Amino acid sequence: MVPFVEGWEGQEMLINGVQSRTIWPTGDGAVEIIDQTRLPHSVETVRLESLDDAVSAISDMLVRGAPLIGVTAAWGLAIALRNDASDVGLEEAAARLRASRPTAVNLAWAIERVSRVVSPLGPGDRADAACQEAAAMAEEDVAACRAIGEYGADIIQAIHRQKAGETVNILTHCNAGWLATVDWGTALAPIYVARERGVDLHIWVDETRPRNQGAALTAFELGQQGVAHTIIVDNAGGHLMQHGMVDLCIVGADRITRTGDAANKIGTYLKALAARDNALPFHVAAPSSTVDWNLSDGVREIPIEQRHSREVTHIVGTAAGGELTEVRISAPGSAAANFAFDVTPARLISGLITERGLCDASEGGILGLFPERSQP
Ligand code: MRU
Repeated sequence: MVPFVEGWEGQEMLINGVQSRTIWPTGDGAVEIIDQTRLPHSVETVRLESLDDAVSAISDMLVRGAPLIGVTAAWGLAIALRNDASDVGLEEAAARLRASRPTAVNLAWAIERVSRVVSPLGPGDRADAACQEAAAMAEEDVAACRAIGEYGADIIQAIHRQKAGETVNILTHCNAGWLATVDWGTALAPIYVARERGVDLHIWVDETRPRNQGAALTAFELGQQGVAHTIIVDNAGGHLMQHGMVDLCIVGADRITRTGDAANKIGTYLKALAARDNALPFHVAAPSSTVDWNLSDGVREIPIEQRHSREVTHIVGTAAGGELTEVRISAPGSAAANFAFDVTPARLISGLITERGLCDASEGGILGLFPERSQP
């Protein structure tokens, strides 16, 4: 079971009524995570005690979501340094973690940050320093997500006022809730904070094929927090928008260029197009650790992960007896392509919700909040 750890007071996110995080140190050099491949069918935790464990937790998607991938990589590097803290060991561990998934830039960001801290130290001091840095990054992620929640909730509250207190209907794609971060989430943090402020909300949850992060994770965590929601098939959003059943869209991001283009789970771009056609706000919520300050053309430059075709041709769920089962849904022999992310150009994004506030999805907007990044 997920433990409650001292110091988490004030955190809100629950699993079966118990305050939880997605990752936590065990106190003996390892970390524990919630195995998200088992959700929502069962809540199981897994101990990561080697570099191999951390790499496969990321690549096999036991942890997923850009901010959580970053923090897991930071802790993975710390764990690897306990075994080999030499320069070569550091470089090899960093390279393996960096290669574990390609799109979310938080991964490279986290590895670079830990490497920068430990590189000047002697090998004997590196593992502890890396561990401290990973723990600090986890706390910063929680604080950033909470701040995103506060700024995003202002947008939701304004719509609530415009609607004279009627229910605000929000559409989201994939999972950008607390399970995709350490706590609170990015796109869902504004929803949790708005609810704290008494806003009446209902969330349309795209199922998010092929791995169904919406149906399996977003719906699960919204249910656990008691937020009203409805799962819809991925192609339903446009229809709902045309019929006045959506007030705004909020999604997360895996990588945002310095010009405001945003990569997120495949299908996000189509939602943004539908939102534009229906004159609805489409916001992207993400911490600055998701901004790739070196890129300026998302469609051309952001690497898009392609995953195994089996995720498209097969589907995983619980059988009548409760056991996790995989079934084929396509004719044998048909080829399947599995692009995991797409890029929504900045021109389709109404605004970015960051830990420093709201800004236009543009270089000027982003640098207005993060002036220290003026030099790439
Ligand atoms: O492939 P995943 O499950 O790691 O993709 C997750 C997403 O696309 C999320 O929406 C994104 O990382 C935002 S995370 C707060």
